[in-house]
Amino acid sequence: MLTVTVDGIPLHYRDVGQGPCVLLLHGCPLTGSSFDAQVKALSGRYRFIIPDIRGFGESPLGDGPTEMSLIARDALALLDALKIDSIVVGGVSMGGYAAMALLREDAGRVGGLVLMDTQATADDAEGKARREATAQQALESGLEPIAEAMVPKMVAAGMDSPVGREVAAMMRSTTPAGMAAAQRGMGLRPDSKDILARYAGPALIIVGEHDPITPPAKAKEMAGLITGARLEVIPGAAHLPNQEQPERVNAVLDSFLASLQGPNA
Ligand code: MLT
Repeated sequence: MLTVTVDGIPLHYRDVGQGPCVLLLHGCPLTGSSFDAQVKALSGRYRFIIPDIRGFGESPLGDGPTEMSLIARDALALLDALKIDSIVVGGVSMGGYAAMALLREDAGRVGGLVLMDTQATADDAEGKARREATAQQALESGLEPIAEAMVPKMVAAGMDSPVGREVAAMMRSTTPAGMAAAQRGMGLRPDSKDILARYAGPALIIVGEHDPITPPAKAKEMAGLITGARLEVIPGAAHLPNQEQPERVNAVLDSFLASLQGPNA
């Protein structure tokens, strides 16, 4: 198991493949293995760096809320440890919020941006209250009721499908404290529209056609803020297209990553 110690916390990560480096940040409450299909299909051409965000998968939880800026700083510390100067940064949902936070912390590091089923806007008061309720529910009742409520929203094929079961298993592997800290951290995130408007590099925005959590309108808003951004709507997917429609997402991702290498790549 690969780990890098940041603030005394041994953070688990995957470092797989050869080629230009791609950092992928997972959603909540998932783990780095949510990108297994991308690694399997594309690691012959790209080097994937995929942390388990603190409080998820094999990475222990730190103190306080898991703020998006903290996830970004953990990822930057990992890149420092691996001596990687420039990288394509991608994130799904919470991982997308963290990717935007990373852009805020160190835009010079980002050679390309992939935002999947996420949004640039902060939570309103109602959204923040919902997050606190979810944090409390996790602490009081564990992840099972949350998985039962969330999987049908996140996966178009529902709980009773191979991908639904895979996502539910990742959710159940999350500790209540890890979930609560991430919910509170997401509630604290700032609006990132300014960050996207300032970003001048290549960008790919992906969204599931039926995503009820961060719907296509949110993806269009992000794409509209970044000059030259490419927007891809994935038919038949909800909130987790990279797991629901991996072949489609892999093709889109591969074509975007290849375009960054120039015509002779
Ligand atoms: C996620 O998938 O990471 C979460 O649904 C994001 C959120 O709650 O905003």
